[in-house]
Amino acid sequence: PVGAPDKALAKKVTKVGIIGAGLMASQFALLFVRKLQVPVLITDLDQARVDKGIAYIHEEIGKLEAKGRLDSDTAGKLRSLIHGTVDKSEYADCDFVIEAVFEEVGVKQQVFGEIEKIIAEDAILATNTSSLSVEEIGAKLAHPERLVGFHFFNPVAVMPLIEIVKTPATADAALSTAFVVAKGLGKNAVLTADAPGFVVNRLLAKVMGEAARAVYEGTPVADVERAFAPLGLPMGPFQLIDLVGWKVAAHVQDTMTAAFPERFYANENFHRLAELSEVVEKDKGGRVTGFTRAAEKIAKKATGS
Ligand code: 3HC
Repeated sequence: PVGAPDKALAKKVTKVGIIGAGLMASQFALLFVRKLQVPVLITDLDQARVDKGIAYIHEEIGKLEAKGRLDSDTAGKLRSLIHGTVDKSEYADCDFVIEAVFEEVGVKQQVFGEIEKIIAEDAILATNTSSLSVEEIGAKLAHPERLVGFHFFNPVAVMPLIEIVKTPATADAALSTAFVVAKGLGKNAVLTADAPGFVVNRLLAKVMGEAARAVYEGTPVADVERAFAPLGLPMGPFQLIDLVGWKVAAHVQDTMTAAFPERFYANENFHRLAELSEVVEKDKGGRVTGFTRAAEKIAKKATGS
Protein backbone atom coordinates (compact mmCIF):
# COMPACT_ATOMS: atom_id res chain seq x y z
CA PRO A 1 0.00 0.00 0.00
CA VAL A 2 1.10 3.53 -0.70
CA GLY A 3 0.80 6.24 1.93
CA ALA A 4 0.33 10.01 1.74
CA PRO A 5 3.68 11.80 1.65
CA ASP A 6 4.81 14.25 4.32
CA LYS A 7 5.15 17.64 2.59
CA ALA A 8 7.75 18.76 5.12
CA LEU A 9 10.22 16.34 3.54
CA ALA A 10 10.03 17.97 0.11
CA LYS A 11 13.23 19.30 -1.35
CA LYS A 12 13.18 22.87 -2.63
CA VAL A 13 13.48 22.86 -6.41
CA THR A 14 15.60 25.71 -7.76
CA LYS A 15 16.56 24.30 -11.15
CA VAL A 16 14.84 21.66 -13.26
CA GLY A 17 16.57 19.37 -15.75
CA ILE A 18 14.69 17.68 -18.57
CA ILE A 19 16.22 14.82 -20.51
CA GLY A 20 14.90 14.77 -24.06
CA ALA A 21 13.65 17.62 -26.20
CA GLY A 22 10.79 15.91 -28.07
CA LEU A 23 7.23 17.19 -28.10
CA MET A 24 6.24 15.86 -24.67
CA ALA A 25 9.51 17.04 -23.05
CA SER A 26 9.19 20.48 -24.64
CA GLN A 27 5.60 20.77 -23.46
CA PHE A 28 6.51 20.13 -19.89
CA ALA A 29 9.65 22.28 -20.07
CA LEU A 30 7.31 25.15 -20.89
CA LEU A 31 5.00 24.22 -18.03
CA PHE A 32 7.90 24.05 -15.54
CA VAL A 33 9.25 27.42 -16.54
CA ARG A 34 5.81 29.09 -16.54
CA LYS A 35 4.62 27.73 -13.24
CA LEU A 36 7.80 27.34 -11.17
CA GLN A 37 9.71 30.23 -12.78
CA VAL A 38 13.06 28.53 -12.20
CA PRO A 39 15.80 27.81 -14.74
CA VAL A 40 14.94 24.80 -16.89
CA LEU A 41 17.59 22.86 -18.79
CA ILE A 42 16.78 20.61 -21.74
CA THR A 43 19.15 18.30 -23.57
CA ASP A 44 18.96 15.71 -26.32
CA LEU A 45 21.24 13.53 -28.39
CA ASP A 46 22.20 16.27 -30.81
CA GLN A 47 21.95 20.02 -31.22
CA ALA A 48 19.33 19.78 -33.98
CA ARG A 49 16.89 18.03 -31.63
CA VAL A 50 17.64 20.54 -28.86
CA ASP A 51 17.09 23.46 -31.25
CA LYS A 52 13.78 22.00 -32.40
CA GLY A 53 12.59 21.68 -28.78
CA ILE A 54 13.66 25.24 -27.93
CA ALA A 55 12.00 26.58 -31.10
CA TYR A 56 8.73 24.87 -30.11
CA ILE A 57 8.88 26.36 -26.61
CA HIS A 58 9.61 29.86 -27.95
CA GLU A 59 6.76 29.52 -30.43
CA GLU A 60 4.33 28.48 -27.66
CA ILE A 61 5.48 31.41 -25.50
CA GLY A 62 4.85 33.66 -28.51
CA LYS A 63 1.31 32.26 -28.86
CA LEU A 64 0.58 32.94 -25.17
CA GLU A 65 1.90 36.46 -25.62
CA ALA A 66 -0.27 37.01 -28.71
CA LYS A 67 -3.33 35.78 -26.76
CA GLY A 68 -2.53 38.34 -24.04
CA ARG A 69 -1.85 35.60 -21.47
CA LEU A 70 1.75 36.75 -20.96
CA ASP A 71 3.08 40.30 -21.03
CA SER A 72 6.25 40.80 -23.03
CA ASP A 73 8.45 41.16 -19.93
CA THR A 74 7.28 37.83 -18.54
CA ALA A 75 7.58 36.19 -21.97
CA GLY A 76 11.16 37.44 -22.23
CA LYS A 77 11.93 36.22 -18.72
CA LEU A 78 10.53 32.75 -19.51
CA ARG A 79 12.60 32.54 -22.69
CA SER A 80 15.72 33.46 -20.75
CA LEU A 81 15.03 30.79 -18.11
CA ILE A 82 14.98 27.99 -20.70
CA HIS A 83 18.34 26.71 -21.78
CA GLY A 84 19.04 23.95 -24.30
CA THR A 85 22.37 22.19 -24.70
CA VAL A 86 23.99 18.85 -25.49
CA ASP A 87 26.40 19.34 -22.59
CA LYS A 88 25.14 17.01 -19.86
CA SER A 89 27.53 18.47 -17.25
CA GLU A 90 25.02 21.32 -16.92
CA TYR A 91 22.71 19.00 -14.97
CA ALA A 92 25.15 19.32 -12.03
CA ASP A 93 23.07 21.94 -10.17
CA CYS A 94 19.60 20.63 -11.09
CA ASP A 95 17.65 19.36 -8.09
CA PHE A 96 14.79 17.78 -10.04
CA VAL A 97 15.61 15.93 -13.26
CA ILE A 98 12.86 14.32 -15.34
CA GLU A 99 13.32 12.17 -18.42
CA ALA A 100 11.10 11.85 -21.48
CA VAL A 101 13.26 9.71 -23.74
CA PHE A 102 12.38 6.66 -25.83
CA GLU A 103 9.98 4.35 -24.00
CA GLU A 104 12.40 1.49 -23.43
CA VAL A 105 13.78 0.35 -20.08
CA GLY A 106 17.39 -0.01 -21.30
CA VAL A 107 17.45 3.48 -22.79
CA LYS A 108 16.03 5.05 -19.64
CA GLN A 109 18.46 3.11 -17.42
CA GLN A 110 21.34 4.28 -19.54
CA VAL A 111 20.44 7.99 -19.48
CA PHE A 112 19.80 7.93 -15.74
CA GLY A 113 23.12 6.10 -15.16
CA GLU A 114 24.88 8.88 -17.01
CA ILE A 115 23.03 11.70 -15.24
CA GLU A 116 23.43 10.18 -11.78
CA LYS A 117 27.20 10.62 -12.05
CA ILE A 118 26.70 14.35 -12.65
CA ILE A 119 23.94 15.44 -10.26
CA ALA A 120 24.14 16.10 -6.52
CA GLU A 121 23.63 13.19 -4.15
CA ASP A 122 20.25 14.44 -2.96
CA ALA A 123 18.86 15.48 -6.37
CA ILE A 124 15.55 13.83 -7.32
CA LEU A 125 15.09 11.84 -10.52
CA ALA A 126 11.71 11.42 -12.18
CA THR A 127 10.53 9.40 -15.15
CA ASN A 128 7.63 10.26 -17.43
CA THR A 129 7.22 6.63 -18.46
CA SER A 130 3.62 5.81 -19.34
CA SER A 131 3.66 2.09 -18.74
CA LEU A 132 7.11 0.69 -17.90
CA SER A 133 8.15 -0.47 -14.43
CA VAL A 134 9.65 2.46 -12.55
CA GLU A 135 11.44 0.05 -10.25
CA GLU A 136 13.15 -1.58 -13.25
CA ILE A 137 14.08 1.82 -14.69
CA GLY A 138 15.80 2.60 -11.38
CA ALA A 139 17.36 -0.85 -10.93
CA LYS A 140 20.84 0.22 -12.04
CA LEU A 141 20.96 3.47 -10.07
CA ALA A 142 23.38 3.79 -7.17
CA HIS A 143 20.51 5.54 -5.34
CA PRO A 144 17.20 4.08 -6.56
CA GLU A 145 15.48 5.74 -3.59
CA ARG A 146 15.71 9.09 -5.38
CA LEU A 147 13.60 7.92 -8.35
CA VAL A 148 9.88 8.53 -8.68
CA GLY A 149 7.39 8.15 -11.54
CA PHE A 150 5.94 11.45 -12.75
CA HIS A 151 3.54 10.76 -15.60
CA PHE A 152 2.06 13.66 -17.56
CA PHE A 153 -0.88 13.46 -19.97
CA ASN A 154 -1.39 14.90 -23.42
CA PRO A 155 -1.73 17.83 -24.02
CA VAL A 156 0.49 18.63 -21.03
CA ALA A 157 -0.59 22.27 -20.76
CA VAL A 158 -4.26 21.35 -20.49
CA MET A 159 -4.63 17.95 -18.83
CA PRO A 160 -4.98 18.45 -15.08
CA LEU A 161 -3.57 15.10 -13.95
CA ILE A 162 -0.16 13.72 -13.01
CA GLU A 163 0.30 10.12 -11.86
CA ILE A 164 3.02 9.93 -9.23
CA VAL A 165 4.47 6.46 -8.97
CA LYS A 166 6.15 5.06 -5.90
CA THR A 167 8.38 2.02 -6.13
CA PRO A 168 9.36 -0.11 -3.12
CA ALA A 169 12.65 1.85 -3.15
CA THR A 170 11.28 5.40 -3.48
CA ALA A 171 12.25 7.54 -0.48
CA ASP A 172 9.68 9.78 1.21
CA ALA A 173 11.73 12.86 0.26
CA ALA A 174 11.48 11.99 -3.46
CA LEU A 175 7.77 11.28 -3.21
CA SER A 176 7.07 14.40 -1.24
CA THR A 177 9.09 16.56 -3.64
CA ALA A 178 7.13 15.10 -6.57
CA PHE A 179 3.83 16.05 -4.94
CA VAL A 180 4.97 19.57 -4.15
CA VAL A 181 6.30 20.02 -7.71
CA ALA A 182 3.01 18.72 -9.19
CA LYS A 183 1.07 21.20 -7.06
CA GLY A 184 3.40 23.99 -8.17
CA LEU A 185 2.62 23.03 -11.78
CA GLY A 186 -1.07 23.47 -10.99
CA LYS A 187 -1.85 19.77 -11.48
CA ASN A 188 -3.83 17.25 -9.47
CA ALA A 189 -1.53 14.44 -8.47
CA VAL A 190 -2.61 10.88 -7.76
CA LEU A 191 -0.38 8.35 -6.08
CA THR A 192 -0.22 5.00 -7.83
CA ALA A 193 1.58 1.74 -7.21
CA ASP A 194 4.27 0.70 -9.68
CA ALA A 195 2.01 -1.59 -11.73
CA PRO A 196 2.18 -1.65 -15.56
CA GLY A 197 0.05 1.15 -17.03
CA PHE A 198 -0.41 2.62 -13.52
CA VAL A 199 -4.10 3.58 -13.51
CA VAL A 200 -4.96 5.71 -16.54
CA ASN A 201 -3.15 3.83 -19.30
CA ARG A 202 -4.46 0.52 -18.04
CA LEU A 203 -7.99 1.81 -18.53
CA LEU A 204 -7.21 3.61 -21.80
CA ALA A 205 -5.51 0.53 -23.29
CA LYS A 206 -8.76 -1.41 -22.89
CA VAL A 207 -10.80 1.41 -24.43
CA MET A 208 -8.42 1.89 -27.37
CA GLY A 209 -7.96 -1.84 -27.94
CA GLU A 210 -11.68 -2.57 -27.95
CA ALA A 211 -12.31 0.42 -30.22
CA ALA A 212 -9.88 -1.03 -32.78
CA ARG A 213 -11.60 -4.41 -32.50
CA ALA A 214 -15.02 -2.79 -32.99
CA VAL A 215 -14.05 -1.29 -36.37
CA TYR A 216 -12.72 -4.66 -37.53
CA GLU A 217 -16.13 -6.07 -36.63
CA GLY A 218 -17.75 -3.45 -38.86
CA THR A 219 -18.70 -0.56 -36.57
CA PRO A 220 -18.05 2.75 -38.37
CA VAL A 221 -15.37 4.87 -36.70
CA ALA A 222 -17.69 7.85 -36.39
CA ASP A 223 -20.13 5.71 -34.42
CA VAL A 224 -17.43 4.47 -32.03
CA GLU A 225 -16.44 8.10 -31.51
CA ARG A 226 -20.02 9.31 -31.06
CA ALA A 227 -20.73 6.59 -28.52
CA PHE A 228 -18.28 8.29 -26.18
CA ALA A 229 -19.85 11.75 -26.11
CA PRO A 230 -22.73 10.85 -23.74
CA LEU A 231 -20.16 9.61 -21.23
CA GLY A 232 -18.89 13.17 -21.00
CA LEU A 233 -15.53 12.36 -22.55
CA PRO A 234 -14.07 15.14 -24.71
CA MET A 235 -12.87 12.84 -27.50
CA GLY A 236 -13.47 9.35 -28.76
CA PRO A 237 -10.77 6.66 -28.68
CA PHE A 238 -9.53 7.21 -32.24
CA GLN A 239 -9.08 10.95 -31.85
CA LEU A 240 -7.28 10.21 -28.61
CA ILE A 241 -4.93 7.73 -30.30
CA ASP A 242 -4.11 10.38 -32.91
CA LEU A 243 -3.47 12.87 -30.10
CA VAL A 244 -1.05 10.69 -28.13
CA GLY A 245 0.43 9.19 -31.31
CA TRP A 246 -0.33 5.68 -32.54
CA LYS A 247 3.22 4.48 -31.85
CA VAL A 248 2.84 5.37 -28.18
CA ALA A 249 -0.65 3.87 -28.10
CA ALA A 250 0.56 0.64 -29.75
CA HIS A 251 3.42 0.45 -27.26
CA VAL A 252 0.98 0.75 -24.37
CA GLN A 253 -1.10 -2.11 -25.88
CA ASP A 254 1.98 -4.33 -26.06
CA THR A 255 3.09 -3.49 -22.54
CA MET A 256 -0.33 -4.36 -21.16
CA THR A 257 -0.47 -7.63 -23.12
CA ALA A 258 2.97 -8.65 -21.86
CA ALA A 259 2.16 -7.69 -18.27
CA PHE A 260 -1.38 -9.06 -18.01
CA PRO A 261 -1.80 -11.78 -20.68
CA GLU A 262 -4.90 -13.06 -18.88
CA ARG A 263 -6.63 -9.69 -19.21
CA PHE A 264 -5.20 -8.13 -22.40
CA TYR A 265 -5.15 -10.23 -25.58
CA ALA A 266 -2.41 -9.82 -28.22
CA ASN A 267 -3.98 -7.00 -30.17
CA GLU A 268 -3.45 -7.84 -33.82
CA ASN A 269 -6.22 -5.51 -34.94
CA PHE A 270 -4.48 -2.64 -33.25
CA HIS A 271 -1.17 -3.44 -34.91
CA ARG A 272 -2.73 -3.81 -38.35
CA LEU A 273 -4.27 -0.37 -37.88
CA ALA A 274 -0.98 1.00 -36.62
CA GLU A 275 0.83 -0.29 -39.71
CA LEU A 276 -1.87 0.95 -42.03
CA SER A 277 -1.83 4.35 -40.37
CA GLU A 278 1.80 4.70 -41.34
CA VAL A 279 0.84 4.06 -44.97
CA VAL A 280 -2.01 6.55 -44.68
CA GLU A 281 0.34 9.12 -43.18
CA LYS A 282 2.74 8.70 -46.08
CA ASP A 283 -0.14 9.04 -48.56
CA LYS A 284 -1.00 12.29 -46.86
CA GLY A 285 2.48 13.71 -47.18
CA GLY A 286 3.81 12.86 -43.74
CA ARG A 287 1.09 14.18 -41.47
CA VAL A 288 1.68 13.03 -37.91
CA THR A 289 -1.67 11.35 -37.36
CA GLY A 290 -3.28 8.64 -39.37
CA PHE A 291 -4.84 6.09 -37.06
CA THR A 292 -8.35 7.47 -37.40
CA ARG A 293 -8.14 7.59 -41.20
CA ALA A 294 -6.74 4.06 -41.28
CA ALA A 295 -9.60 2.88 -39.06
CA GLU A 296 -12.11 4.61 -41.35
CA LYS A 297 -10.74 2.68 -44.33
CA ILE A 298 -11.14 -0.61 -42.47
CA ALA A 299 -14.64 0.22 -41.27
CA LYS A 300 -15.75 1.22 -44.77
CA LYS A 301 -14.47 -2.08 -46.14
CA ALA A 302 -16.20 -4.03 -43.40
CA THR A 303 -19.54 -2.30 -43.87
CA GLY A 304 -19.23 -2.27 -47.68
CA SER A 305 -19.98 1.48 -47.78
N1 3HC B 1 -1.09 22.46 -26.26
C1 3HC B 1 -1.45 23.53 -25.51
N2 3HC B 1 -2.75 23.90 -25.35
C2 3HC B 1 -3.70 23.17 -25.97
C3 3HC B 1 -3.38 22.05 -26.78
C4 3HC B 1 -2.01 21.72 -26.92
N3 3HC B 1 -1.61 20.67 -27.64
N4 3HC B 1 -4.54 21.53 -27.27
C5 3HC B 1 -5.53 22.30 -26.79
N5 3HC B 1 -5.03 23.27 -26.00
C6 3HC B 1 -5.76 24.31 -25.27
C7 3HC B 1 -6.34 25.33 -26.22
O1 3HC B 1 -5.42 26.37 -26.49
C8 3HC B 1 -7.54 25.84 -25.43
O2 3HC B 1 -7.09 26.78 -24.44
P1 3HC B 1 -7.95 28.09 -24.13
O3 3HC B 1 -9.37 27.63 -23.90
O4 3HC B 1 -7.30 28.60 -22.89
O5 3HC B 1 -7.77 28.95 -25.33
C9 3HC B 1 -8.02 24.60 -24.65
O6 3HC B 1 -6.90 23.70 -24.63
C10 3HC B 1 -9.19 23.93 -25.29
O7 3HC B 1 -8.85 23.61 -26.62
P2 3HC B 1 -9.88 23.64 -27.83
O8 3HC B 1 -10.97 24.62 -27.55
O9 3HC B 1 -9.12 23.78 -29.10
O10 3HC B 1 -10.46 22.17 -27.95
P3 3HC B 1 -11.25 21.29 -26.92
O11 3HC B 1 -12.14 22.07 -26.01
O12 3HC B 1 -11.83 20.24 -27.78
O13 3HC B 1 -10.11 20.63 -26.01
C11 3HC B 1 -8.56 18.92 -25.55
C12 3HC B 1 -9.04 19.92 -26.57
C13 3HC B 1 -8.08 19.62 -24.30
C14 3HC B 1 -7.41 18.14 -26.19
C15 3HC B 1 -9.75 17.98 -25.18
O14 3HC B 1 -10.33 17.47 -26.34
C16 3HC B 1 -9.37 16.84 -24.27
O15 3HC B 1 -9.28 17.01 -23.06
N6 3HC B 1 -9.19 15.63 -24.84
C17 3HC B 1 -8.84 14.42 -24.09
C18 3HC B 1 -7.39 14.39 -23.86
C19 3HC B 1 -6.97 13.19 -23.06
O16 3HC B 1 -7.76 12.37 -22.61
N7 3HC B 1 -5.67 13.06 -22.87
C20 3HC B 1 -5.07 11.92 -22.21
C21 3HC B 1 -4.35 11.13 -23.23
S1 3HC B 1 -3.57 9.72 -22.54
C22 3HC B 1 -1.98 10.16 -22.26
O17 3HC B 1 -1.54 11.24 -22.54
C23 3HC B 1 -1.13 9.14 -21.57
C24 3HC B 1 0.05 8.73 -22.39
O18 3HC B 1 0.93 8.03 -21.53
C25 3HC B 1 -0.34 7.81 -23.53
